[in-house]
Amino acid sequence: MWTIRHEQAGAAGAVERLVDLGFGPGRFAKAAYRLREGVAADERLSFVAEDETHALLGSVRFWPVRIGQSPCVLLGPLAVEPKLRGRGIGIGLMQRGIEEANGLGYEAIVLVGDEPYYAKVGFSRLPPGRVRFPGPVDANRVLGLALKPNALVSLGGDVMRARIDQPVSAQATKLG
Ligand SMILES: CC(C)(COP(=O)(O)OP(=O)(O)OC[C@H]1O[C@@H](n2cnc3c(N)ncnc32)[C@H](O)[C@@H]1OP(=O)(O)O)[C@@H](O)C(=O)NCCC(=O)NCCS
Repeated sequence: MWTIRHEQAGAAGAVERLVDLGFGPGRFAKAAYRLREGVAADERLSFVAEDETHALLGSVRFWPVRIGQSPCVLLGPLAVEPKLRGRGIGIGLMQRGIEEANGLGYEAIVLVGDEPYYAKVGFSRLPPGRVRFPGPVDANRVLGLALKPNALVSLGGDVMRARIDQPVSAQATKLG
């Protein structure tokens, strides 16, 4: 039995350990991590899955980004406790995040990941080269999900860091 709730202050250490288990230390070299440097996750979209003893079973976070003129969020990292994979926890965490992201002003969610998995919650592959990450990524793994009608149709440009300390429509930070 597991439930999904907002990540509480103080859970960051446990979440980092879980994400390390899932991805290893090499994750910091990935292009997506450049978009997280010096910027906080949108805590309204940070969720954990817990059992009845409040043990951490899974985690998902989303980072604010800007793509061209569009305020978007980057999904991930998403990680589930290795022994408890295949029970719907990952999908449940993403569905909750997607649900909550609706109505926050973001236009789309993007990520770099396995299309067959993320298609289960509605992601699809973006046209190669349309959305450019700050580093090498496999074009077949650049995926998007519209939060507003037709948002993916016009989505394009460099993915840049953005902050949420001001309205998402008013902030963007170019990568140095
Ligand atoms: C990927 C991960 C989050 C999935 O979590 P999970 O709780 O096991 O996933 P769910 O139980 O919600 O979904 C399981 C379903 O997705 C499928 N699936 C899981 N990972 C997949 C992948 N990489 N590609 C395609 N399908 C995948 C399973 O086969 C299963 O399919 P079924 O329902 O048809 O049997 C988990 O394996 C994990 O933490 N991995 C390490 C970190 C990682 O790779 N994160 C994602 C980066 S792209």
